[in-house]
Amino acid sequence: MDRIVIRGGKPLHGRIPISGAKNAALTLLPCALLTDEPLTLRNLPRLADVDSFGHLLNQLGVSTTIEGARPDEFGRVMTLRAANLTSTVAPYDIVRKMRASVLVLGPLVARAGEATVSLPGGCAIGMRPVDLHLKALEALGAELEIASGYVKARAPSGGLVGGTIRFPFVSVGATENALMAAVLAKGTTVIENAAREPEITDLAKCLIAMGAKIEGLRTDTLTIQGVGRLHGATYAVMADRIEAGSYACAAAITGGSLELVGARRDTMPSILSSLEEAGLGIEDGAEGIKVAALGGLKPLSLSTAPYPAFPTDMQAQFMAMLTLAEGTSLLTETIFENRYMHVPELNRMGADIEVRGRSAVVRGVDKLLGAPVMATDLRASMSLVLAGLAAEGETEVHRVYHLDRGYERLEEKLQAVGADIERVGG
Ligand code: EPZ
Repeated sequence: MDRIVIRGGKPLHGRIPISGAKNAALTLLPCALLTDEPLTLRNLPRLADVDSFGHLLNQLGVSTTIEGARPDEFGRVMTLRAANLTSTVAPYDIVRKMRASVLVLGPLVARAGEATVSLPGGCAIGMRPVDLHLKALEALGAELEIASGYVKARAPSGGLVGGTIRFPFVSVGATENALMAAVLAKGTTVIENAAREPEITDLAKCLIAMGAKIEGLRTDTLTIQGVGRLHGATYAVMADRIEAGSYACAAAITGGSLELVGARRDTMPSILSSLEEAGLGIEDGAEGIKVAALGGLKPLSLSTAPYPAFPTDMQAQFMAMLTLAEGTSLLTETIFENRYMHVPELNRMGADIEVRGRSAVVRGVDKLLGAPVMATDLRASMSLVLAGLAAEGETEVHRVYHLDRGYERLEEKLQAVGADIERVGG
């Protein structure tokens, strides 16, 4: 099994190209199910989860072709075509490995009138139920049956019917499934308490390019006028705000300065304001956002919450950075119930972190020491890489398949800005 070996202590300087957003790509790919015409996605990141999703779509009868994209290029162009669906089943062995597979549910019921999707089960960071996804489909008239770990959803004989969907709390995935189901439902659908993450806006813009009628983008209320059919389109995946934020933390923790090429300031307000509060210099560069360490890191008090608040997907990376702050930080994780598995590994590197319920108290230390560490989930694995970049000595990060789910060619991007990092197989 691959592992990543880092010899830390080198400030990073230079340009890092930011890839297309994983969490946008994973909701744009199933849009292909909503039409029999070709959907072309540009700037698709080269990630394990994107490949897995492509294989799932292939099993449903969607043809996928990758154009161009020399091995040294970032971002691929994929054309998907669901001319004729050959299956409406998302099997357990796929869904259990990638919970985003549940995002085929809404589009399949909208296009084919039915879907049988394995319930995802939990994952490392929490139970992650899909009850809100199911309630949204029921609000559009779908009938659901749950048996043997699968949910079978069926639209009324005349197809889904527009309705009002009120989410009791924000769910990114449930908002995405609801939106993709509503665009072909008869009549008007209103989604209240919709997630406002930029990836939702990217999804809505792609659906509009395909002929959907959606209002309320960037707000917590989306209004959709159903249409009879959608047509093909070409759409470019937005830049990954979490990847950009992760590399900004790399500049911070190593005392360097990086230009995040392609990063979009308007998609990462709380990430950038938190970095500034920690003492980083942030400015717009010619090709993206420049992040520079200006001196010692200041401690922060941060609580994760839905967009536009501080994102849960940045909690582990900020925690790594704050292990070296001049003072004590307090991080509170309000979205997932078990997203502190990076803590014991960071402490093995000399950090001083104490978890108290949903909060973590991070007392700044003078230095971190390299050690063999174990990745447990995607963002935790990035926090261990960040710690390794700053630590004295050598750090070995095991189970790097977690990293490959969300960071395109991580070691190449870091080597190019001065990191002593390599992937070792076997
Ligand atoms: C998306 O997951 C992201 N994944 C996650 O990123 C991200 O952490 C999360 O949104 C929050 O921003 C993708 O976009 C592929 P939720 P999702 O539904 O949609 C509970 C990463 O590292 N909930 O907003 O699954 C749920 O358990 C990943 O890139 C229900 O109770 O998140 C969680 O506690 C990790 N019932 C909370 O809501 C439901 O039906 C928010 O989950 C749905 C969710």
